[in-house]
Amino acid sequence: MSSAVVSTELYRRACALFPTGVAVVTTRALDGTPHGLTVNAFCSLSLSPPLVLIAIDRICSLLETFEKSGHFAINFLSKSQRDLSIRFSELPEGRFSGVSWQPGAEGAPLLDASIGAIECRTTQIIDAGDHRALIGEVVAANVGEGEPLIFFRSSYQALGS
Ligand SMILES: Cc1cc2nc3c(=O)[nH]c(=O)nc-3n(C[C@H](O)[C@H](O)[C@H](O)COP(=O)(O)O)c2cc1C
Repeated sequence: MSSAVVSTELYRRACALFPTGVAVVTTRALDGTPHGLTVNAFCSLSLSPPLVLIAIDRICSLLETFEKSGHFAINFLSKSQRDLSIRFSELPEGRFSGVSWQPGAEGAPLLDASIGAIECRTTQIIDAGDHRALIGEVVAANVGEGEPLIFFRSSYQALGS
């Protein structure tokens, strides 16, 4: 099925005009191994009850792990964590090597240096084109200090830069 009137390239460039934060979404496999990937497809979906949505590419090797674990944490990166964003989007394995973290309420890794985090229990998984949307009920949150890492026009920025 292809009824697209907008090319993928134009659609990508248009979406890139909307600045987002950058987060590392984490979970623990059933054997306790920590996993995570960089995302910017995050939104706060509902306040009452508190629900969030993340979108994971169907070709992402971690999708099944996230689906099976039933929980995830969204770690919001600070402007000094560009390297961490690259590590969690590009390194094929060993992403947590040398990274300090603590287990959250459901066990998902909370990265020490992030500016804050939201922890969730997965309540719905929805097929959406080449991605899957994971909706999570928020079970805990923490708010720290610092300025966010921003992604705009497909490159990293800081507020006011
Ligand atoms: C700034 C940025 C934002 C990203 N956002 C997402 C996203 O929202 N969803 C997603 O599935 N992948 C996203 N990615 C790509 C994933 O981080 C990357 O494909 C993933 O870590 C690959 O995991 P794998 O090697 O285990 O398949 C993003 C990458 C970057 C650099």
